[in-house]
Amino acid sequence: MQNFEFHNPVKIIFGKKDELSKLATLVDKSQKVLLVYGGGSIFKNGVYDGVKSALVNHTVLEFGGIEPNPHFETAMKVVEIIKAEKVDFVLAIGGGSVIDAVKFIVSAALYEGTDAWDILAKGVEVKAALPFGAVLTLPATGSEMNSGSVITKAATEEKFAFMSVHSFPKFSFLLPDAAGSLPKKQVANGVVDAFVHVMEQYMNYPAGAPLNDRFAESILQTLIEEGPKVYAKPDDYEAMSNLMWSATMALNGLIGCGVPQDWATHMIGHELTAFHGIDHARTLAIVLPGLWTVLKEEKRAKLLQYGARVWGITEGTEEERVLAAIAKTEEFFQSLGLPTKLGDYGVTSITIDKIVTRFEQRQWKAIGDRGLVTPIVVRQTLEHQLA
Ligand code: NZQ
Ligand code: ZN
Repeated sequence: MQNFEFHNPVKIIFGKKDELSKLATLVDKSQKVLLVYGGGSIFKNGVYDGVKSALVNHTVLEFGGIEPNPHFETAMKVVEIIKAEKVDFVLAIGGGSVIDAVKFIVSAALYEGTDAWDILAKGVEVKAALPFGAVLTLPATGSEMNSGSVITKAATEEKFAFMSVHSFPKFSFLLPDAAGSLPKKQVANGVVDAFVHVMEQYMNYPAGAPLNDRFAESILQTLIEEGPKVYAKPDDYEAMSNLMWSATMALNGLIGCGVPQDWATHMIGHELTAFHGIDHARTLAIVLPGLWTVLKEEKRAKLLQYGARVWGITEGTEEERVLAAIAKTEEFFQSLGLPTKLGDYGVTSITIDKIVTRFEQRQWKAIGDRGLVTPIVVRQTLEHQLA
């Protein structure tokens, strides 16, 4: 097992929407609160009303309009409001996009440099941020219990992530009943995003960490069991509860302790979102099977373990079992309505050239758990998934 440090200070309040009444005491009354949300789903699922009535004795301002794959440009508008109104506390209400946007907003609000984009594009360290909490209505990203954030600059079609010790929510409400209003497409996206988060921390070289392997495999098995139930019926409270907790556990730092991490699938996928606006999870469903196929020799040990323990693949030669594990995974994504080929989205080899050029320009020449993902591997991966 590798050395690691693990610190996760996020208080989780899991349950039905009436738990939101606890907001009244979680946020100090002396603090001016800004609610930040997306395009309006919170008005339809009762969450907005629950938050407003809990904070009836607080001073509350609002900003609605954070878009999926949140834009730097929109976030900076919120920063101006925070500065002008002297906001003390921000509450993110929605999915990963709103929570990610708020993580960036609270950091940019106290940023002392000239251009807060440098936090994302140049990795400038965040030294301080306003406190914030989250109300999660969409199980997928794990943003509710981690310190990561992904922001897009619309003007340049660039999508970058940052992490900071100041970017953990003070608390997060996980409300499976609020997620019952999700369209099936978003449920499917959530299952696949969480699944691939596990894989980024699991499908790597063996590191003598059997406990972590089993944590990871248990989340994968739960997603395979519960995901289709929620996809069939998003308001199945028990199934949605299990999906939501699985998605949170998939990316709150726990399963990444002591093991190598990869994230190449995400880095390639982010470029497909940046150039074509394809939903985050849908990009992962395209990239992952391609990357595993190209690196199947290097990932052989873990592909065999995964195939046997998660899918029960124990018959055949090693090569047959490896290919079966990849095929099962791709079929799982497709069974949830996620296409796995670039052609399904009208993406051609022109985009592959653009992505490979970006990787070269950014000097991303050897990413992944062992630095095996070179621009050539990126090209082979995307070409494999072309049609
Ligand atoms: O904007 P509203 O009206 O709220 O609608 C949203 C949005 O259109 C809707 N929605 C959310 N909750 C709902 C609902 N609709 C009905 N009922 C509900 N209860 O769902 C749509 C998508 O929301 P979004 O927040 O964009 O989805 P998701 O949670 O999948 O977040 C995706 C973003 O997270 C980033 C991605 O790159 C992408 O930008 N990621 C963040 C990570 C992190 N912070 O750790 C890790 C991930 O790998 C990922 O990169
Ligand atoms: Zn993801």
